[in-house]
Amino acid sequence: MKVTFLGHAAVLVSDIEEKYNVIIDPFISGNPAFPNGFELPKIDYVLVTHGHADHLGNTVEICKEHNATVISNYELCNYLQQKGCKVHPMHVGGVYYFEFGKVKLTPAIHGSGIHDEDKVIYGGNPCGFLIKAEGRTIYHAGDTGLTKEMELLKDVDIAFIPIGGNFVMDVEDALVAIEMFKPKTVVPIHYNTWDIIRADVEKFKEGVEKLGVKCIIMKPGESISCQSL
Ligand code: NI
Ligand code: MN
Repeated sequence: MKVTFLGHAAVLVSDIEEKYNVIIDPFISGNPAFPNGFELPKIDYVLVTHGHADHLGNTVEICKEHNATVISNYELCNYLQQKGCKVHPMHVGGVYYFEFGKVKLTPAIHGSGIHDEDKVIYGGNPCGFLIKAEGRTIYHAGDTGLTKEMELLKDVDIAFIPIGGNFVMDVEDALVAIEMFKPKTVVPIHYNTWDIIRADVEKFKEGVEKLGVKCIIMKPGESISCQSL
């Protein structure tokens, strides 16, 4: 099993038990940070943290092309089902055991409205994901401000944490979050895609390491083998 960063907040978890591929927040079209020429493997599940376009991204196209199933909150799943996707609705706090592993939806403080043509559709509660597969725990925080709920996270092997500020935690708040649950490894996401979310990622890395936590700044297209975590 390996994790690949695809720019912005898009993360691919692939070769789970050498069979399953899962993508989180597949923002491909229009993502300035998406790695050029990157080809997705056959996707089995698309996990969507919330309805904003930089997270919902190409979910509908991927589901149709790969016959993949969406895992998200109930309202987003309803919307995506109407768009022709197979869905597995869940909600914050809920756990389900899929063929590839265990998924839990974690709280995120943010919005989730879906822009559809000239309307904004209610997209339920935004979330993060805890994925437990092959004995490893992967946390993707989604878009969120700093929240005390993060204290409840335990035994996270790798955490994908937004640091870009403005819409989500900035470097300072992300460091407070890391201190709360001390994952083994942190990967910063959701920064520098656009000017409005500029962050000093080297300063973040320094701060994380001071907490005794490993920080890996992944370039889009880069992978980490989960065996190495
Ligand atoms: Ni958002
Ligand atoms: Mn976002």
